[in-house]
Amino acid sequence: MSLRLGDIAPDFNAKTSVGDINFYEYLGSSWGILFSHPADYTPVCTTELGRTAQLADEFAKRNVKVLAVSVDDLEKHKGWIGDINETQHTNVQFPIIADEDRNVATLYDMIHPNASENFTVRSLFIIGPDKKVKLIITYPASTGRNFVEVLRVVDSLQLTAQYSVATPADWKDGEDVIVVPAISTADAIKKFDKGVTEIKPYLRYTPQPNK
Ligand code: BEZ
Repeated sequence: MSLRLGDIAPDFNAKTSVGDINFYEYLGSSWGILFSHPADYTPVCTTELGRTAQLADEFAKRNVKVLAVSVDDLEKHKGWIGDINETQHTNVQFPIIADEDRNVATLYDMIHPNASENFTVRSLFIIGPDKKVKLIITYPASTGRNFVEVLRVVDSLQLTAQYSVATPADWKDGEDVIVVPAISTADAIKKFDKGVTEIKPYLRYTPQPNK
């Protein structure tokens, strides 16, 4: 069965490019991003994993641990990491799961048979410190993901978790955020000391609380 937002992210043990891991132990109390790619030694995937490695400091700053997964084996992963480092001018340090038995791909419904019988699509799951699935995106093999967008949604999810705010369309870090509907305007004025602007009773903005 497919996973939905709010579900508990399934735990697993896996062989990875940095050794055997247990998913929950690896995550600890951090946020997690688990993302699949169709196959090693493919061009779009090479750029995606390179970009993820280049953004290592940004993920660390947000307390996010990243794991990639494909159904290729460990030897292939290790050789391919050399290519990624060489061509993308980076140093891949996050684990790449060797999911030869498709255990992780099956748990996270990453194989979409009408797209490909054998390979994972570009699934991406953001998992909170409570191990619940906070966000799911799915791209086809031919479209590389936008990792600046991935960081943006992490920022949005973390703001919601810490401050009970939501983020409007096209929001970027530093811009005003939205007071969630569950909070009355009177309570919002008490809670958000930078002020609340009421456009409509249901549309209230406040400056980003952690800036
Ligand atoms: C790629 O990662 O480059 C790719 C994989 C499968 C189909 C198309 C592109």
